[in-house]
Amino acid sequence: MSQKKIFLLLVAISSALLLRHGGHVSTMRPFHLGYSSLQSSSASGLKTKHTSIAFLKTHKTASTTVQNLLFRFAERNNLTVALPIQACDHQFCYPRTFSTRFVHSHTMSPQVITSHMRFNHSELRRLMPNDTVYITILREPTSMFESLFSYYNQYCLSFKRVPNGSLEAFLEQPWHYYRPHEKDSMYARNTLTFDLGGDKDRSPKDKAYIKGFIGEVERIFSLVMIAEHFDESLVLLRHLLAWDLEDMLYVRMNMRRPSSRRSLGADLPARIRSWNALDTALYEHFNKSLWERLRALGLSSVGREVHLLQSAQVRLVQGCFGGRLPQLRPAAFIRNKELRPWQPSPKVDIMGYDLPPNASRLGRGAGAMSHDLCVKLLMPEVQYSRLLLRSQSQ
Ligand SMILES: *[C@@H]1O[C@H](CO)[C@@H](O)[C@H](O)[C@H]1NC(C)=O
Ligand SMILES: *[C@@H]1O[C@H](CO)[C@@H](O)[C@H](O)[C@H]1NC(C)=O
Ligand SMILES: *[C@@H]1O[C@H](CO)[C@@H](O)[C@H](O)[C@H]1NC(C)=O
Ligand SMILES: *[C@@H]1O[C@H](CO)[C@@H](O)[C@H](O)[C@H]1NC(C)=O
Ligand SMILES: *[C@@H]1O[C@H](CO)[C@@H](O)[C@H](O)[C@H]1NC(C)=O
Ligand SMILES: *[C@@H]1O[C@H](CO)[C@@H](O)[C@H](O)[C@H]1NC(C)=O
Repeated sequence: MSQKKIFLLLVAISSALLLRHGGHVSTMRPFHLGYSSLQSSSASGLKTKHTSIAFLKTHKTASTTVQNLLFRFAERNNLTVALPIQACDHQFCYPRTFSTRFVHSHTMSPQVITSHMRFNHSELRRLMPNDTVYITILREPTSMFESLFSYYNQYCLSFKRVPNGSLEAFLEQPWHYYRPHEKDSMYARNTLTFDLGGDKDRSPKDKAYIKGFIGEVERIFSLVMIAEHFDESLVLLRHLLAWDLEDMLYVRMNMRRPSSRRSLGADLPARIRSWNALDTALYEHFNKSLWERLRALGLSSVGREVHLLQSAQVRLVQGCFGGRLPQLRPAAFIRNKELRPWQPSPKVDIMGYDLPPNASRLGRGAGAMSHDLCVKLLMPEVQYSRLLLRSQSQ
């Protein structure tokens, strides 16, 4: 090793130690993940962590998992999280366009914002620090639409009026069921475009609109994550924010029961993409740019980092739950109501985790994690938002 490398390594290690003991990082018992090789090979050990973040939480895209990760980071680092006023429910009065009026007064001057909203950059700029990093996540439109159709089937009228809840029937004649200006119509067409503040009903023939819209998203957002490449997206996120590997740990949240997933007939994917042409254009653009950035970082080092993240995750689950995750169950069967996820209707089983019966012993064994961390890893968004509001109101 050259002297320069040794020097950099020493700087990296001592800054990591400084960070750990500087009161900046952790109120939680730190746990060892063995990622020192990462810190010396990336810039993160040398920089302070970035703490001003606006995460645009899109629908049915694994965004709840990212939100949970950001909530935990904010708590550990005493950051203020902007939360909605009660009248807005747990979202910023979605689908209305975001306004600072929707932010609870006890959470003013926030550093982090993650709850569902329809994006408005200029309103967010009035609220958030000037160095705020904007992030969002997209999902492949075919599987996303199938998921929206099933999740909001009884909720969104465009879907509810389809006979037999048939996705095929909807796609056969979407204009027969869809009303652009009706309540909840944003779940039925170009939901990603809508969430990002765009015009979901703009004709896909208007190429200039799509191009301009993509350009704007690119200009504002420092990272557009891709749900299908979640761990790789987290690698980019970690580098962007100069966070540690332990800040990136997660458990998958807010999933459907696998049996409520349907397989799509041969011509459905093309129909879904064409019905959601704006979202498809967004997705294709940002999946491409995600992979350009991953290649720029070096695919083999990305692969190594993904592997480290996944092994750290296994150790976390081991430490928290003594082996494997608690079993996923339908919300109705979860005894602890703090852990019961919200359901759009009784017909869709959104799955959650229940704590094992011996949960009071969580985090007591050798190599155990703190009880608080273990519970919060599993806590659904509504309960976690309420809890954060309570603690920030004190
Ligand atoms: C967080 O804030 C509390 C109360 O103000 C303080 O006691 C604690 O040291 C802070 N922790 C960190 C990591 O800044
Ligand atoms: C976004 O916010 C700005 C003010 O910050 C406002 O002028 C504009 O009308 C808002 N856009 C929408 C679509 O509501
Ligand atoms: C952000 O930038 C604006 C204009 O550049 C400035 O007026 C404002 O004071 C800055 N706010 C903070 C919190 O730095
Ligand atoms: C709905 O299902 C019923 C019973 O399975 C069937 O008879 C009917 O043709 C279906 N309707 C449509 C529009 O597919
Ligand atoms: C995203 O792009 C990569 C690289 O071009 C490709 O391999 C991958 O299949 C794409 N992902 C999806 C879900 O389309
Ligand atoms: C809880 O009990 C199960 C089975 O009885 C055991 O495998 C697991 O290690 C226990 N977990 C804790 C945290 O004690």
